[in-house]
Amino acid sequence: MRTAVLISGRGSNLGALIAAAAAPDYPAEMALVLSNRGEAAGLERAREAGIPTAVVDSRRFGRDRAAFEAEVGAALSAHRVRLLVLAGFMRVLTQPFVREWQGRMINIHPSLLPAFPGLDTHARALAAGVRLHGCTVHFVSPGVDEGPAIAQAAVPVLPGDDAATLAARVLEQEHRLLPACLAWLARGEAVLVGGAVRLSGAVGAASGALANPLP
Ligand code: GAR
Repeated sequence: MRTAVLISGRGSNLGALIAAAAAPDYPAEMALVLSNRGEAAGLERAREAGIPTAVVDSRRFGRDRAAFEAEVGAALSAHRVRLLVLAGFMRVLTQPFVREWQGRMINIHPSLLPAFPGLDTHARALAAGVRLHGCTVHFVSPGVDEGPAIAQAAVPVLPGDDAATLAARVLEQEHRLLPACLAWLARGEAVLVGGAVRLSGAVGAASGALANPLP
């Protein structure tokens, strides 16, 4: 399944997807990496892997999100993209765009949603005093960091943690969870049905963490 990964920065989740997609039986192909920022370090990862890249600089469009998305959409069409992964893509998408890709677009978020949508999730989890934190891969719906979860992975909050140590523990799980979820989506094993996620088949590539679904 031809897949585009949308990024805004570092691209470590993109790196995990590229590594997973190198396996001959991985069901998704990295057809395009698109960034809304030309300086995103993830673009370099894509180039090194020989994946086509595109930059649609969101700053050029000001508040005109529809015009920004029209250009993004044109790039996706040109590369015959079927699935979209938001991997650290820090732009809010309009309802028409989300509707067009509903059921075919997933996002990774660094918290156990619906706790801590938005930014600074690790500092907020520490401030709230939670014992478990983690990450969520979900189908994108019109709200920010909303939409039914395909899978979540939890990690403990340990004594002495700061936002950086907690972020690193979560990120390790992000790198397991996102490639697993994309594989399920591409194989038709994770399907959005009436606003809920239906899982089927041999779902279970995510391992090591307290993860649901479990391996
Ligand atoms: C990841 O932690 C991802 O979960 C988060 O941005 C980071 C991107 O890192 N996404 C969000 O906060 C979306 N609301 P990466 O560029 O190294 O993959």
